[in-house]
Amino acid sequence: MKQSVKLVAGNWKMNGLGASLGEVERLKAELAGQAATCRVALCPPATLVARMAQLCDGGPIEVGGQDCRAEASGAYTGDIAAAMLKDAGAGLVILGHSERRQGYGETSALVLAKAEAALAAGLSPIVCVGETLEEREAGRAVEVVRGQVIQSLPLALAGHAFAVAYEPVWAIGTGLTPTLEQIEEVHRAVRAAMIERLGLGAADQPILYGGSVKPDNARDILAVAEVGGALVGGASLKAADFLEIIRAA
Ligand code: PGA
Repeated sequence: MKQSVKLVAGNWKMNGLGASLGEVERLKAELAGQAATCRVALCPPATLVARMAQLCDGGPIEVGGQDCRAEASGAYTGDIAAAMLKDAGAGLVILGHSERRQGYGETSALVLAKAEAALAAGLSPIVCVGETLEEREAGRAVEVVRGQVIQSLPLALAGHAFAVAYEPVWAIGTGLTPTLEQIEEVHRAVRAAMIERLGLGAADQPILYGGSVKPDNARDILAVAEVGGALVGGASLKAADFLEIIRAA
């Protein structure tokens, strides 16, 4: 299957203050000295999106949000609309992360509505899917992930740039990762589900692997068939670690 250029995206989660932008400056300086081999993105907490986007203006680091509301505006205290992220300088948004699916009861139907909102605002969504340990142990990983892909991707995504991130819930922040064979099996199933849902145009959109990607396992994971990049949590907080992962892509 034809692969687009890899995307290595960092998810800072609820980490980072203004002082953390120093890591971004370091990363930017390092990347400036080398030819781009992949796309690089950082998704900081909402409070840092505008400042990071200013800092990264002109490339090569893209900036994204970690979530958005499905509605365009209104009485939703504490929430952020896709257009607000776009206005702050973001180009991407992570949607349906398992910490939101599990912690906030977000369903695939809600993730789909958020992805439609992102698209309408001109953001490129990174839609996350992944099975729990219980589901994997019951032999249901592929079935669960396939269902999440079909139900979370709006048909309107056809022809647009987006990514799917496969993040086994049990691998996030635990230091555990699936075997390379397990990653390949699920990524192939994700690709098939993307094409089933959106047509052959979806063959070129990257499928990222996420869940305990570190400098020492990134090269092997990123070499697996159908792995089109990585979504990196903990290891994206330090420029040196994130850079090693970028260099492995
Ligand atoms: P982790 O997080 O790399 O810290 O496991 C990945 C993610 O949740 O996106």
